[in-house]
Amino acid sequence: MALILGIETSCDETAAAVVENGCKILSNVVASQIAMHAQYGGVFPEIASREHVLKIVPVIEDTLKEAGIKFKDLAAVAVTHGPGLAGSLLVGVNTAKAISFANDLPLLGVNHLEGHVYANWLEAANMTVVEKQFPLIALIVSGGHSEIVLMRGHNDYQMLGHTLDDAAGEAFDKVARLLGLGYPGGPAIQKAAEDGDPNAFKLPRAWLRGTYDYSFSGLKTAALHLVQSFKDKPLPVADIAASFQAAITDVLVEKTKQAAEEFGAKQILLAGGVAANKRLREQMVKRADRPVLIPPPKLCIDNGAMIASAAWWHLEKGERSGWDLDVLPSLQLAVKSQ
Ligand code: KG4
Ligand code: ZN
Repeated sequence: MALILGIETSCDETAAAVVENGCKILSNVVASQIAMHAQYGGVFPEIASREHVLKIVPVIEDTLKEAGIKFKDLAAVAVTHGPGLAGSLLVGVNTAKAISFANDLPLLGVNHLEGHVYANWLEAANMTVVEKQFPLIALIVSGGHSEIVLMRGHNDYQMLGHTLDDAAGEAFDKVARLLGLGYPGGPAIQKAAEDGDPNAFKLPRAWLRGTYDYSFSGLKTAALHLVQSFKDKPLPVADIAASFQAAITDVLVEKTKQAAEEFGAKQILLAGGVAANKRLREQMVKRADRPVLIPPPKLCIDNGAMIASAAWWHLEKGERSGWDLDVLPSLQLAVKSQ
């Protein structure tokens, strides 16, 4: 039995969890800073780092207490070391190093995006069943990333395509701001869209045929022009939110589906904060023609359990990070092949 402490501080959640054998969550504590950043309409990096410094120790203490364990019961300490905000990542990495050093525990630096992918197996009864599910296509959509990745096995990623401009979550956040909805924009748009008609406005879909790349800037500009066209008239917020959500999910679903067909994927996997989106989840399941794995919404957004889950496979392979583990704000999961 291997208990891993997973620490996540790459953006605006201070999070820590204890996970057994990569899949069984013993505790998962997340201190969200959303309220602190809402007034700025996005994450304010200095405030984020300062909050992580204040919260990280109590969050780790709470997670150990909830799991009913002490540091000596752990097999390893895992921490997100990129991608993310440098100052925020530093808080997690330095805390993990201190715990690892003081308790003589292996240290593992984890790629945040790999964490999002492994959130999918957090509630699997047994991690080894996962072996039979490759190759698979992963759609990773968060506030900073939108990528289609081919996985032929564990920790084996081939980037097929990525966004050429905004990340999907960023597009949700920006359009939410245009509509006067709160931050974070994804959940706000989803909620507003419940009362709207997805066919009310025809917003553009950038297919970028022949590639697995995405582009959301045209959609964002079209939403801006649509909002401006109402001038002093009341803005149909629900209809615009629903039409925007339909346009963005259409592109995400169709391109992921095409990749799954081309590479004979046994399944499709959704990962990242935008994977919490109800319409994206429903449409992907409806149109995929193969099984779709999606974490429960609360595990789609940043958390420590996903970091501990991804780390388990690296620990099993005997991998360890050294004391020179550094933060890598632009760390990639894979480089795009030509
Ligand atoms: O993965 P995540 O928690 O943080 C990053 O790694 O970036 O993703 C945050 C992003 C935000 O842009 C947020 O608006 C979006 O995920 N998001 C959603 C939903 N919940 C969170 N987007 C659409 N629908 C949602 N329900
Ligand atoms: Zn994330």
